[in-house]
Amino acid sequence: MVQISCLRAAVLLLCILPALVDARIRHYKFNVVEKNVTKLCSTKPTVTVNGQFPGPTVYAREGDTVLVRVVNHVKYNVTVHWHGIRQLRTGWNDGPAYITQCPIPPRQSFVYNFTLTGQRGTLLWHAHILWLRATVHGAIVILPKLGVPYPFPKPDKEDVVVLGEWWNSDVEAVVDQSTKLGLPPNISDSHTINGHTGPLASCPSLQGGADGYRLQVESGKTYLLRIINAALNEELFVKVAGHKLTIVEVDAIYTKPFKTDTILIAPGQTTNALLTANKGSGTYLITVSPFMDVPIPVDNRTTTATVHYSNSSLTTTALTTTKPPPQNATSIATSFLDSLRSLNSLQYPALVPQTVDHSLFFTIGVGVNPCPSCINGTRIVGSINNVSFVMPTVALLQAHYYNVSGVYTTDFPGTPLFSYNYSGPGPKNLQTMNGTRLYQLLYNSTVQIVLQDTGVISPESHPVHLHGFNFFAVGKGLGNYNPASDPAKFNLVDPIERNTIGVPTGGWLAIRFRADNPGVWFMHCHFEVHTTWGLKMAFIVENGNGPHESILPPPKDLPKC
Ligand code: C2O
Repeated sequence: MVQISCLRAAVLLLCILPALVDARIRHYKFNVVEKNVTKLCSTKPTVTVNGQFPGPTVYAREGDTVLVRVVNHVKYNVTVHWHGIRQLRTGWNDGPAYITQCPIPPRQSFVYNFTLTGQRGTLLWHAHILWLRATVHGAIVILPKLGVPYPFPKPDKEDVVVLGEWWNSDVEAVVDQSTKLGLPPNISDSHTINGHTGPLASCPSLQGGADGYRLQVESGKTYLLRIINAALNEELFVKVAGHKLTIVEVDAIYTKPFKTDTILIAPGQTTNALLTANKGSGTYLITVSPFMDVPIPVDNRTTTATVHYSNSSLTTTALTTTKPPPQNATSIATSFLDSLRSLNSLQYPALVPQTVDHSLFFTIGVGVNPCPSCINGTRIVGSINNVSFVMPTVALLQAHYYNVSGVYTTDFPGTPLFSYNYSGPGPKNLQTMNGTRLYQLLYNSTVQIVLQDTGVISPESHPVHLHGFNFFAVGKGLGNYNPASDPAKFNLVDPIERNTIGVPTGGWLAIRFRADNPGVWFMHCHFEVHTTWGLKMAFIVENGNGPHESILPPPKDLPKC
């Protein structure tokens, strides 16, 4: 009898235990420090987290609470953004400087504290002030809850692949210079793959494979690659010679699996791909190269890494190569994007809003304003509905929470103030208005935004990122959006859900989301250069009913402005 009840107790314990240990608290310490980093034959002092480039990976499970103490040891003000984390009711921890928090001054610290609710997959963290995210970034890996499998065959191994952009000179100096002159900043000197510029980069001593990232594989095994685009200003193609990739997740949302030989990934986006090492042996080239389908200068260098079968000799095995797609390969980009669909299973449904409370139409793009002190007498500006967003000097979320007046207005235009042929060249004398204008949403209201690219200077694909929410990309097209005929073609069943998406060059994209997260939420082009120029705005989402639909009080250690 005693034995049986013991057994019972043990079984009971085994059943309860996973549930008890399931939600954990994960502690991280981020020391923001300057470190000398050598790339492309030159060494420069670089702002990093814990001296690492890319920075440390944050690992957690769905349901966990993550505490990251960020200590600022550099001369700049610093914040860290947890890109794609929903931050349900915890907007204070989102990270964009002067939007949700005042930055962390030198020699001070702040503990970011958030819970991973209803999300699993790959995301990224990055600095969200100045251009510090060039080197202050890293991966966030959210594993499913204990005992919950992936909705695809379990990989034998997982690897994080962080793509970045490297400047040989001080990135902040590059930006300052460009702001002063009113001109676009210099393009980067190389792309990076897990911090490596690759053997084909423009540094003679790197020839012959000295600094290439190597992905070690064993024949017959399957690898889950968690690919992150942490670059500042470039959409990237990724290709692996001789291997197809199976896409299973983007932006921490499971997708219907599909096979491809090329991935397109915009800054701020993440893509999980399965790679099966189905060759017997060998070394295979990985290429990372830019996508830009209009004549705007980009860093057109191809950075490479290798997939290396561990049974092959490193020195004598011939390299199987592949050609990257042409820089302007619109059709390759489009066919990849058109293949993306939410998994939309019973367990992971696509909760697409079927009705719309706020129907917004936002023109997005770049233009020119007069600037007497600039080199050409003009300055390049970015705007949404012709408003160039002006950064406040106190954080918007605090101003909203404490009802401080005079910091922002709530009159952001939901539609353009006058209409023109948006995707065409645009009126010659188009100037933007400046303002810290926000758009107000009631809790739980449903929102549709049609993002219309403009061609005032040149059309261009813009990766638009919304903080605090995922959205569904329900429709897109080329030219100007037609409200009479286009909505009929929307996919309201299994459109891709994500937090960052490219608006097609010279076209439009329609997204929908439910405003079920109170707070102040930034929306901007994730090309840092365009954000700098003003291609940004923010939403205020009001509290709903009662504490469960209201933002939590601010953390005690929240920095002051
Ligand atoms: Cu990843 Cu507001 O940015």
